Formats: sequence, structure tokens, C-alpha cells
Amino acid sequence: MDVSEAIQKRATIRRWKQKPVEKEKILRVLEAGRRAPSWGNVQPWRYVVVQERAKIEELAKSGAGQPHISTAPVVVVCCGVTEAFSRQKHRDSLKQLIQEGVMDWPDELLDNVVLGSDLFAPYRLGEQAMTIKASEQIMISVAYMTLEAVNQGLGTCWAGAISRNEAHEMLHLPENWFVHDFLLLGYPDENPKPRPRKPFDEIVFWESAAAAQPGR
Ligand SMILES: Cc1cc2nc3c(=O)[nH]c(=O)nc-3n(C[C@H](O)[C@H](O)[C@H](O)COP(=O)(O)O)c2cc1C
Repeated sequence: MDVSEAIQKRATIRRWKQKPVEKEKILRVLEAGRRAPSWGNVQPWRYVVVQERAKIEELAKSGAGQPHISTAPVVVVCCGVTEAFSRQKHRDSLKQLIQEGVMDWPDELLDNVVLGSDLFAPYRLGEQAMTIKASEQIMISVAYMTLEAVNQGLGTCWAGAISRNEAHEMLHLPENWFVHDFLLLGYPDENPKPRPRKPFDEIVFWESAAAAQPGR
């Protein structure tokens, strides 16, 4: 399946066949997430794959009891590490890119310009900015996983309406991780038509946004 087809076919699935998902397929989905791009290549994502029924039902409670969480065959708990954006870790990631020949920045540029800039280096803006930046990267990775899932004949539902602290506690996650969302995964037991989207003329403007309607 090509990427365009996967994009067109993907729709949020909330009804699941009670059929186990092969480990090979779960790994293919996770690999898509692993290959996602990230700011400075810091890769702040961590994934906990949950398949035990009792654990999934427990996780569903932290998702306001959304029924499609408790019935999902697999719940990928998508987590992040804010520290990935600490000066040191961000530097380590950039340094690795430099060593790989991706950029040819001398240390002086790396340390004084890049890591000295509020635009490049989230650590300069504090913990909250670092967590937001980590969250953005996780969403890219999860989006990649949703597309590979389609390619594997699987469906996904992104669950962001969850109590992150409850899920964190339930899974005894490392102190320095935060839970971002769940990605529910399984064989679809429905074939939904594409959900509504805003028309092009409301969201796309060519060369200038002069034609944008105020307030839209
Ligand atoms: C970050 C994020 C969080 C979401 N959280 C939930 C959720 O908690 N529960 C749910 O049923 N759907 C959730 N969704 C799915 C959206 O409702 C869905 O993507 C949207 O209605 C468009 O439908 P489609 O994905 O089928 O195109 C979430 C989607 C995203 C991207």
C-alpha cells in the first residue's frame, strides 16, 4: 500500500475484532513511530505495549471509561521524557547528527548559537516549554504509527482524553516519564466512511491569507 492510500483509508476505529494482533505487526507499527522525525533528533518518545486484558481494563478507567479502550486488543501507552530537551541531551543528539555528517556545525556554533538560542533550544524556555516540545514530537511519531497500522490491516484510535497521572501510577512508569496519550490498536470491526473535514478554501491560501474570512 502506498502512503497516499494509507492516508485516505485511515479512520479512527472504535470497534474491535476480539482477535489477537500478531507481534510482528505490532513491531512494524512501532518501527514506523521510531522512524519519525523529531526536533534535533531527540526522540523523546517511549512506548509501553499493553495486551493483558486486566491491565487494559484498568487503563480504560483512566480514560473516563471510554468503551473502545477497554475492548481494544492492544493499548500502546505513548509516553515522553521531558529531559530529552535538557541542554545536555539535546546537545548529545545534535552532536550525533554532526558526527554522522548530517550537519557540519563546529562546537562553537553548536554551543553558542544553536544551544544559546531560544528558537532552537527549548531548555532555555523552561520545563513547560520542554514538555510541550516533547509532546509535539510524540504526536508525529504516533501519526506515523496510525498509517503503518493501516498498511498492516489494523485500525487505531488515538485516546488523549485520559488521566495521565492515573495511567502513570497504574503502570509504575519511571518518575521522569510523562504519559501523553494511548494508541489503541487492533483488527477493525467496522469500516467507517471518512469523517468530515473543513473544505480547502477554509484552510488553504495561496501566497497570502488575504482571502481568509475573519473569525474562521
Ligand atoms: C491527539 C488526539 C486525541 C484523541 N483523543 C480521542 C479520545 O480520547 N477518544 C476518542 O474516541 N477519539 C479520540 N481522538 C480521535 C478523534 O476524535 C478523531 O481523530 C477525529 O474525530 C477525526 O476522525 P478520524 O480520525 O476518523 O478522521 C483523538 C485524536 C487525536 C489526534
